[in-house]
Amino acid sequence: MKKIITYGTFDLLHYGHINLLKRAKQMGDYLIVCLSTDEFNKNSKNRLEKNKECYFSYEIRKQLLESIRYVDLVIPENNWNQKIDDIKEFGIDTFVMGDDWKGKFDFLKDYCEVIYLPRTKEISTTKIKKDLEKNRV
Ligand code: CTP
Repeated sequence: MKKIITYGTFDLLHYGHINLLKRAKQMGDYLIVCLSTDEFNKNSKNRLEKNKECYFSYEIRKQLLESIRYVDLVIPENNWNQKIDDIKEFGIDTFVMGDDWKGKFDFLKDYCEVIYLPRTKEISTTKIKKDLEKNRV
């Protein structure tokens, strides 16, 4: 069985996320999503950008992901350094991320295949938040 893993926040779930998960699942048989916890997001030192605090809690984001047919298992992402351990623990064959992360995880090639998929254009959680903010009365 070919196992795939991907990492992310998946706040305000949108079609860009679904496209990513669909293509990730098509690369193998079993897809694990490693979902950033609220503590991980809050700690700005953990994040490349600020304002990563989520609208939906970890539990809600997890429930939404678990209801997607492409997702087999959701596990917590607690820190930046757990990827190698996750790959070993779950016997991962392929690590998948959107290409906004291109090159950033090439060090994992010592442990599994690393693939960056093209992002879906013109949609992101940040864009949704900004557009909602603009339309506020
Ligand atoms: N993703 C994608 N296409 C999009 C948006 C996200 O393929 N239009 C992918 C990302 O590359 C990542 C995964 O979905 O592999 C989770 O991304 P995440 O950062 O949670 O979503 P974004 O919408 O990019 O959120 P933000 O705007 O907060 O960065």
